[in-house]
Amino acid sequence: MLTKKIFIFSMVLTTGIIVVSCSDIKRKPGRVYMPDMAYSRAYETYSVTEEDREALQKKGINFSNIPVAGTIKRGELFHFLLEKDKEGDSTNYVASKSVHNPLGMLDSTQMIEANRLFLVNCAICHGPKLDGNGPLYRGGEGPYPVKPATLVGDAKYEGMPEGQMFYSVTFGKNKMGSYASQLDTRQRWMVISYIKAKQSAGKSKAAAGSDSTAEKK
Ligand code: HEC
Repeated sequence: MLTKKIFIFSMVLTTGIIVVSCSDIKRKPGRVYMPDMAYSRAYETYSVTEEDREALQKKGINFSNIPVAGTIKRGELFHFLLEKDKEGDSTNYVASKSVHNPLGMLDSTQMIEANRLFLVNCAICHGPKLDGNGPLYRGGEGPYPVKPATLVGDAKYEGMPEGQMFYSVTFGKNKMGSYASQLDTRQRWMVISYIKAKQSAGKSKAAAGSDSTAEKK
């Protein structure tokens, strides 16, 4: 008799648990107690978008992962003063033409490092030969929808001032994203020096090539 009662009781209990756990009651999360503990104030570059930040501010949480305006990172040698142009404006893009590369020519050790940086970050699109035909594009066969700039062999990019290249690598250009978070200022200038070195090497090669054909004639 008792076992039957226990059986019925446990059946009712199990059914109750199933009903409760399967119902779609949406529980509201509790109030945030001590938001400093719940939301990290650590420097996490991509963790909070502008909208997130506004939403947090409305709740009284003043989280900011942006450095104070006008400050320069400790140890930063080559601060780039130009800011990203607003949509539809190109004032700073044009102004960047007059910014000089603070590194100039690279020595052979720096060239090895610059070559490594280029292969890791840029060659997937621009190609290891800088011909704008990296594995992601493959002459239009690859998944990348637009032709990356032909950095060696195209007069437009051969004549492009280093400051302007730096601007585009820092802030991005159309389909090319910004590389400011992958490469620091010095590394970006190194990659630009590398491109310029490859361009002049390409030019002297071409000149030597045309000389030899002239000789044959
Ligand atoms: C995901 C593919 C991709 C990667 C990776 C990439 N680029 Fe580009 N890059 C492009 C495309 C596409 C363009 C042409 C943009 C345009 O003018 O519309 C371009 C243009 C450029 C230009 C010309 C910018 C201008 O102002 O016209 C330079 C210089 C350049 N890239 C350098 C680099 C360097 C240096 C890296 C590595 C740090 C790099 N790119 C990585 C796709 C890429």
